[in-house]
Amino acid sequence: MVVTDPGRRAALAELYRRGWERYVTEGITEKPVRAADPEARARQKRITSSARYLADHLHEVPVLVVPCIRTRTDASDAVVQASQFGSVLPAVWSFMLAARARDLGTAWTTIHLFHEREAAEILGIPFDEVMQVAMIPVAHLIGESLKPGHRRPLDEVVHWDHWRG
Ligand SMILES: Cc1cc2nc3c(=O)[nH]c(=O)nc-3n(C[C@H](O)[C@H](O)[C@H](O)COP(=O)(O)O)c2cc1C
Repeated sequence: MVVTDPGRRAALAELYRRGWERYVTEGITEKPVRAADPEARARQKRITSSARYLADHLHEVPVLVVPCIRTRTDASDAVVQASQFGSVLPAVWSFMLAARARDLGTAWTTIHLFHEREAAEILGIPFDEVMQVAMIPVAHLIGESLKPGHRRPLDEVVHWDHWRG
């Protein structure tokens, strides 16, 4: 779904802000960060501060894209969930790359899903049949141009033939 209507965008932004409050107070989806690694902590801090900025400004973002799956996987096995997400993730990533090629910024966000049912009501989505998987704010880039994101050395993240602990 592509959302451009100002009233609906403002309502989604409000849900995102409520989700954000819950995220910071309960830390429900926080990714595990190696506490001993100050660089990792600093990176996580930067992402958190970007996300906080987004929470404060989301209503100003002109386009919100909400990718959906025409089923619900809440109660399904990993194989079903992975297969369904496999149908949507490559399409959304292609969209994000295409946006980037046109000087549009995007981010994969999920925090509004704390209140997915309310978002479904705002957007007229039949909640029992259609699952929202993300919300991608789309806006023109301002300020400095983008830099490549930090990537850990391949040796740390690639496993050959057998999982290393
Ligand atoms: C503004 C902003 C908001 C984000 N919001 C979420 C979120 O709601 N849920 C989530 O799982 N990740 C969120 N992320 C994290 C990104 O989806 C992504 O995992 C992160 O930017 C690391 O990917 P990268 O190394 O390719 O940049 C957010 C990132 C940014 C910059």
